[in-house]
Amino acid sequence: MYTVPKLKSYSAAALDKAVEKLLAALKQEAAAAKNEADWKTFRDHWMARKNGVLTQINDLWLKAAPKDAKREVGQRVNELKATVTQAVDNFRPGAATAVIRAGASVKASLGTVVATAGPDALDITLPGIPRPLGAEHPVIKTVHEIVSVFRNLGYSVQEGPVIETDYYNFEALNFPPNHPARDTQDTLFIARQEAKPQRERLLLRTHTSPVQIRTMEKMKPPVRIVIPGMVHRNDPPDASHSPMFHQIEGLAVDTNITFCDLKGTLDHAMKALFGSSVKTSFRPSFFPFTEPSAEMLVSCFICGGSGKRGSEPCRPCKQTGWIEILGCGMVDPNVYGFVNYDPKKVSGFAFGMGADRIAILKYGVDDIQLFFNGDVRFLEQFG
Ligand code: DAH
Repeated sequence: MYTVPKLKSYSAAALDKAVEKLLAALKQEAAAAKNEADWKTFRDHWMARKNGVLTQINDLWLKAAPKDAKREVGQRVNELKATVTQAVDNFRPGAATAVIRAGASVKASLGTVVATAGPDALDITLPGIPRPLGAEHPVIKTVHEIVSVFRNLGYSVQEGPVIETDYYNFEALNFPPNHPARDTQDTLFIARQEAKPQRERLLLRTHTSPVQIRTMEKMKPPVRIVIPGMVHRNDPPDASHSPMFHQIEGLAVDTNITFCDLKGTLDHAMKALFGSSVKTSFRPSFFPFTEPSAEMLVSCFICGGSGKRGSEPCRPCKQTGWIEILGCGMVDPNVYGFVNYDPKKVSGFAFGMGADRIAILKYGVDDIQLFFNGDVRFLEQFG
């Protein structure tokens, strides 16, 4: 261990030599400190107030120096104090935390920590990695908005599997096997299911309607539910089609539910979604699981129903002033037969809409593919 010598001469050359020896010893002892206990011994040897090396150079070198050498010696002693202090801090095992204790010189000495302590060291002076806040995807946002309109009416949310059986997707919804109504839904079937009976064969659900059946199987009326979810159809992608898209289904079954309830509920929902000035209109349609069935239109909330935007034709409503928004109807009594509901006692209505299509209309997006390409430049705009 280094001991501080008395100086025989205070010449610049003699001082240089003494400083050089001290620094060599400092380096050697620092490198030898392998663990916390070693390091403490090292620290105390150099920095202890009583008899530490720094105290000794103060006493033996500076105080003992003749008047005319004081300035010169004082400068070197000060430099040595800074160097020793830094070396003690830097060589502490796990030095990054030790440096923080060094106070005023934290920033300056951190650079050295990184240089001396090697690649494992943590350099807390580097800027952090920014993690931008995420935002709800516009389709999911639309789904949440629609769901909340119905939640406020007392509806609860149900979900079901995306991979569905033929039975739930078609048969129990009153699409008999081989019935041509099945052709309206270009279905993606799971391969190698031929050995199974038709009703057990798996497919990607083409609509959220199977969850009506799954819910009525486990719940007795009254039922008031909305069913958001992902569906698939064998449609090649283009600006208005995607093989994967989203629907929201609704179902209300109780005693004495009539077509008036359907109209009133949906009219209210459209006003809540698109503004209180929109009007609704119903025209006859066909779905196997509702009777009667209807398509509902809303007056175009982009052109206000005029079919024109200034002198330009309104594209979203194809100049008709109306936008087709959903399918609906009174639940076909045959459906109740599949879930053990008594069609003489209960009645209900159902509806289904495309969430992506509604998002397209709400946000004025001209290509459905933009929703699913994962391009943050597009998605960011909804943040
Ligand atoms: N499932 C139908 C489709 O995907 C939409 C639909 C129509 C759902 C009428 C309903 C309904 O619940 O009553 O085309």
